[in-house]
Amino acid sequence: MIRKEYHVPPEEMAKQREIAGEVRQLPHRPKTYFIVTYGCQMNAHDSEKIAGLLEQMGMSEATSREESDLVLFNTCCIRDNAERKALGNVSWLKEIKKNRPEMIIGICGCMAQEPGMAEKLRKQYRFVDLIFGTSNLHRLPELLMNTLNSRDSLTAVDDRDWIAEGIPVRRLRHDAAYLTIMYGCDNYCSYCIVPFVRGRERSRNPEDILREAGELMESGVKEIMLLGQNVNSYGKGLSGGVSFPALLKSLDRMRIPRIRFMTSHPKDLSDELIEVMGAGSHILPQFHLPVQSGNDEILKRMNRHYTREQYLDRVRKLRESVPGIGLSTDLIVAFPGETEAQFEDTLSLVREVGYDSAFTFIYSPRTGTRAAEFPDQVSPEEAKDRIQRLIALQEELQQKTLSRFLGQEEEILVESLSRRDGQAVSGKGRHGVSVTVPGDAADAGQILSCRITGVKNNTLMGERTGGTR
Ligand code: 5AD
Ligand code: SF4
Repeated sequence: MIRKEYHVPPEEMAKQREIAGEVRQLPHRPKTYFIVTYGCQMNAHDSEKIAGLLEQMGMSEATSREESDLVLFNTCCIRDNAERKALGNVSWLKEIKKNRPEMIIGICGCMAQEPGMAEKLRKQYRFVDLIFGTSNLHRLPELLMNTLNSRDSLTAVDDRDWIAEGIPVRRLRHDAAYLTIMYGCDNYCSYCIVPFVRGRERSRNPEDILREAGELMESGVKEIMLLGQNVNSYGKGLSGGVSFPALLKSLDRMRIPRIRFMTSHPKDLSDELIEVMGAGSHILPQFHLPVQSGNDEILKRMNRHYTREQYLDRVRKLRESVPGIGLSTDLIVAFPGETEAQFEDTLSLVREVGYDSAFTFIYSPRTGTRAAEFPDQVSPEEAKDRIQRLIALQEELQQKTLSRFLGQEEEILVESLSRRDGQAVSGKGRHGVSVTVPGDAADAGQILSCRITGVKNNTLMGERTGGTR
């Protein structure tokens, strides 16, 4: 089989760099930018790449969107409310633009990539200057140059699935970094729009990933979060038997202090990966394993390709291999046709597993997906009632699951000063749970040792036991 070539040719990347240099010389180019980001970690990382490209073009970050010369909305379309929020904010900017006509407004990200959406946006939001999809991100210098030259609204969305190596990245944090290992998704879960907007599953070459990891380590990064819509199927389509467990093993050998990854699909969680997790020295003992529902019939209609029992078997194996592992999940309630009894299966699964955290969602029909055509959509009242019961149960259980950390040693990577208390800092522990300990701004970006002394809502409280590293 001939592998489809996804890489943007190096000449094209060089051309974009050259145009970026030309934009930099333009007297009427925007001087400042502001990016408004919605959605998941992939989008957050895309925004870091967009910022990198804009800085290459000589711009710097504005302090507010109202004052910025260029405002980009990096959108999400996973649920209806994500879309509505983004469009509400775009409309709000229309008023600002009335007083500042030179302001450039752009919409990019997943929403722009939805079939037919770019045209719709162009018609309904005439004050928007630039619309581009996730697969056109690397062409931002050229797109911006065209917008500046014509001042006509410009749309650039194509359905080509690219891998663009060498985009400059302006990282938000210096201690922890995102590292994309694969793009897109081929799973077509019946409710999910992602395969339609992020394209076919494609993996970066391992050499490119290892090189980037090496550069990050050199720059002092202490934690790397590997990103992909389904990292467990990394390597599909690459030659040489590359797999996620093999990649993880290579990264573990590099001695980056902390390695995490997101997101996994239970059907692709192999015994080999579980073994690598158990044997690793730097792979953190945490796993985000979206289950979506605890009922077999619903799982089947969601096109998830596992049963409740198979999922629970993966959880058991993970716990055997990595004792005390922190588990988190995603759950959808009110999938079309979900009965009360089927919903209760989700409640009982949540009880059986005991997650450290769970992201809970009301099913939101997405045009173009199979489930949007399914009969028996659950009423909004019923959906609301179910999600409230699910959240209440998770909160109650969480107190208990998090109590297992009491008296235990933990290591945290300090992210921020605690909001409530200027004398405390917080960061994620190795198991993925936030921990607050006494400290100050000097601790930011350090790994601290502590002992857990309390559980407060969904976080842990700790006392410091050692130094920093
Ligand atoms: N409605 C509600 N939740 C959804 N998710 C994905 N698509 C939908 C939808 N149409 C949730 C899933 C997924 C998470 C990222 O978002 O739980 O794991
Ligand atoms: Fe969506 Fe399923 Fe792919 Fe996750 S695995 S992105 S839920 S289609």
